[in-house]
Amino acid sequence: MKIWKVDPNKPNKNAILEAAEIIKKGGLVAFPTETVYGLGANAFDEKAILKIFTVKKRPVWDPLIVHVCNLEMLELLVKEIPEYFYTLAKHFMPGPLTLVMYKKQIVPDIVTAGLSTVAIRIPNHSVALKLIEASGVPIAAPSANIFGRPSPTTAEHVLQDLGNSIDGILDAGQTMIGVESTVVDLTKNPPTILRPGGISKEMLEEVLGKVDLFQNQILNYEFGLPSPGMIIRHYAPSVPLILTDGNPKDLKIKIKFLKNKGYKSEEIGILAPKDWLKNTNGLTCFEWGSWGNWEELAKRLFEGIHWLENKKISVIIVPLPPPIGLGLAIRDRLIKASSFKE
Ligand code: TXA
Ligand code: MG
Repeated sequence: MKIWKVDPNKPNKNAILEAAEIIKKGGLVAFPTETVYGLGANAFDEKAILKIFTVKKRPVWDPLIVHVCNLEMLELLVKEIPEYFYTLAKHFMPGPLTLVMYKKQIVPDIVTAGLSTVAIRIPNHSVALKLIEASGVPIAAPSANIFGRPSPTTAEHVLQDLGNSIDGILDAGQTMIGVESTVVDLTKNPPTILRPGGISKEMLEEVLGKVDLFQNQILNYEFGLPSPGMIIRHYAPSVPLILTDGNPKDLKIKIKFLKNKGYKSEEIGILAPKDWLKNTNGLTCFEWGSWGNWEELAKRLFEGIHWLENKKISVIIVPLPPPIGLGLAIRDRLIKASSFKE
């Protein structure tokens, strides 16, 4: 396994060429995007794609996103490009937006889990774009973590989960956005958000008018609801993750509750804004960012969860942001991470 340290703004050419060579030969390379690290393989190479599913322990019914470096490459893969597409492309591509459209036959079924559609995006990261260009093929890439675990925002996170089971990692430091791309189904009218992410619902509505949101449990969630098992557990750390309402008072109540249950202070991990962490002596705290700055909180979400997980803690407590801007994507990840029924 090879690790190439690269400058995100001016990646070393040789590193990119070596990584591209591995992709061309059917290997797996983890690479940075603006959202999270992806685990890439040649989208046309069915054997290589199968390896992605094996290494990630990902069920084959869960389709992959195909990453391309320009519109020409995208047009090779999809048919019936809807009018909406070009409006969205003009505003958000490259960027953290994945669009689901009807696929051409050239896209292997294993990539799309047998669906008639394919999810495509143009990542806004020079390392990702240069890797795709040098490989000369579209790169299918899920997040570079074990299925169900928190997504990787650094090369160290990738190493921790996938270690020596992949062929290389392009390490360009921490990713900028920190949550995955927004997945929008363009085969539906109005276009429908299947997964909230780096482009907010408000931003999409500004250019498209009406946009639907598929997962309305993200909006309706209240502490304690929905009941475990109603949603699939995902993005989850190895210890229980408990949500609180988005205010310091509720955080304090939950801390007290856990202490009464017999948890020692240092066993309790907290991901919360710095000014909510007064009088938390002895607890294991990660200063998340400032409440209301959803971009900053999104960027540090998985970083914080990984950091806490590597301390000796038994539980993590996190306040739940409102469904505003990137707060919606953070809510989605946290609600799924806290669902404990497997
Ligand atoms: O930011 C991102 O999107 C990252 C980086 C690496 O690009 N990738 C990522 O991939 O998050 P993954 O595999 O972890 O999540 C892809 C999501 C899954 O929820 C999958 O079900 C959905 O996209 N998806 C893929 N193809 C689809 C399709 N044809 N129709 C509907 N959903 C699809
Ligand atoms: Mg993922």
